[in-house]
Formats: sequence, C-alpha cells, structure tokens
Amino acid sequence: MSETIIAPSVLAADLGRLAEQLAAVEEAGATWLHVDVMDGHFVPNLSFGAPVVAAVRRATRCFVDVHLMIEAPERWVETFVAAGADLVSVHAEATPNVHRALAAIRSAGAKVGLAVNPLTPLAIVEEALSEIDLALVMSVDPGFGGQRYLPGANVRLERLRHLRDARAPHVLLQVDGGIDERTIGDARRAGADVLVAGSAIFGSDDPGAAFARLGSAARS
Ligand code: DX5
Ligand code: ZN
Repeated sequence: MSETIIAPSVLAADLGRLAEQLAAVEEAGATWLHVDVMDGHFVPNLSFGAPVVAAVRRATRCFVDVHLMIEAPERWVETFVAAGADLVSVHAEATPNVHRALAAIRSAGAKVGLAVNPLTPLAIVEEALSEIDLALVMSVDPGFGGQRYLPGANVRLERLRHLRDARAPHVLLQVDGGIDERTIGDARRAGADVLVAGSAIFGSDDPGAAFARLGSAARS
C-alpha cells in the first residue's frame, strides 16, 4: 500500500485564524491542504475564490490541492494555478469540455485531478487515466461540509483501484466527504491514497490532535 495522505479541508477552518489553524495541522504532520471552491451554480453553495487560495499558499509549505466545484472550470484553472494551486481538480459533470479543462491545468503547470459525483459513471475516469494525476471520488453530494459518508463510495474506490493498479499506477485516488475516525479505515482499505477531512479536523478544538487521531484510525 502506498503512503496515506490526509488532506485537511480549509472549508471547515476558522478563516479569521487561518494561518494559526494551518500551522497546527502542518505541525501535526499534514503535507497536503484541500481548498474547496464553490460557485453557487454547480453546487448550491458559495465558498472561496483565488485570493483565499493565495492566502493559503502564503501561510503554508503544504501541497495545495484545489477542488473546483464550479461550472465550466476551464475558464478559471489558470487563475487558480497562478494563485498557488499545486493540483487542480475539475468535475466531470461541470463541463462538456473535460479534456480541454484537464489540458488547461496541465499547461498551466499544475497536477491534474478529475472529480466524480456519487452516481457519475466511473467510465469517464477510466477514459481519462492517461491524462490525470489524481481521481477524486466524492463520498457526499458536493457543496457542504459535515455530511454523512455514502458507503457506496468504497465500492467505487475498489473498482477504481483495480483499474488504476493495472493501467496507471502513478494516479492517486482521493476520497472527499464524511471522512472521520469511523469511516477513514474502510475508505483507506478500499483504495483511497488521499483522504480529505474538513469537520473531523477543524471542527475540533485541537485540529493538530484531530489530524493525528485520523492518521491512527486510517492505519488501524
Ligand atoms: C464537500 C467538499 C469537501 C468538504 C468535506 O463538497 O468538497 O471537501 O470540505 O467536509 P467534511 O470532511 O466535513 O465532510
Ligand atoms: Zn472538496
């Protein structure tokens, strides 16, 4: 099994204490941070734009993973890479121009992610395996933190893991939504290499300790 990466999701952080909260998880061993960008169209919620990505970039040495939950993301990838994203994920459902969006991320100089909602056929990820560095399996309907993990995500992770192992071993599998101490072990065993956690980390009074507990739960 490859290394387990837990990516704290900034969506659940206290933005008024952003640098302090990011430092707490970084000191606890975090190497990735996940930033959720929502446009109020693709998902029924609004969150951050590029200035927040730039603020995260300035506050941390972590790998900055930007999850675009926006329509026609190909219009915006350059902006987010310029703001400091190391990896940008776009949703397969958000544009008819998925290939163009993935190519735009690559040519802007960032790692390339493709995200799929809970019932989106995995065939599109299979088609895209040679174009991507990461496949993001949503384990909730995107748009909000604090939702319950959809157990069907584990079957999807297993299916993708087999495909990935056979065809594109360098591609990382990421799971996002409802990851906590109860759900993280099964998601990891199903095949997730990168596990995003928002409320389970920043909903705690001690985000560093919560990050460490998730790490132990992932390995148990
Ligand atoms: C949901 C976002 C997630 C969110 C996860 O649409 O993509 O990244 O921050 O939050 P939790 O871990 O609270 O489910
Ligand atoms: Zn996300």
